[in-house]
Amino acid sequence: MEIIKWDKSLESSVEACNIEHKYLVDNINKTYTLLREGHREEAKNLLVNVVVEYTDKHFKHEEDIMKKYGYPEEHIEKQKKMHRFFVKHIVNDLVPQIENGGEKEFVSVLNFIVGWLIMHIQNMDVAGYGKWFDEHGVKVEDKPINLE
Ligand SMILES: [Fe+2]
Ligand SMILES: [Fe+2]
Repeated sequence: MEIIKWDKSLESSVEACNIEHKYLVDNINKTYTLLREGHREEAKNLLVNVVVEYTDKHFKHEEDIMKKYGYPEEHIEKQKKMHRFFVKHIVNDLVPQIENGGEKEFVSVLNFIVGWLIMHIQNMDVAGYGKWFDEHGVKVEDKPINLE
């Protein structure tokens, strides 16, 4: 079952980040499927141990790539702030919300995560460093981080 659909609007010329974003999308959909099939505990574990963990790794990797290829510092700072906010908000506010609520609360948390990610990838990643790298002729050859 899909709660988030991958499409072209989420793609930039940075293939490593595309692959990492896709991995997140796949695992959010897996979380949603588990939840809908009644496996709440497994869904929560997948969200906490895979989606959140990997999101944090992806953010750091993306920040390294931005720095390595000369994306302006002020834009990197904005990205970092958003990245930190997102992870903190999930861990401090949304996971407790899942723990204290039922399926409805879990779905609304997933909807928030999906909405935030789509907005962030489109506006900050694709239209941000993606566009900047294209305009400056930067070709990022880095490999994606481990997909466990
Ligand atoms: Fe990203
Ligand atoms: Fe980002």
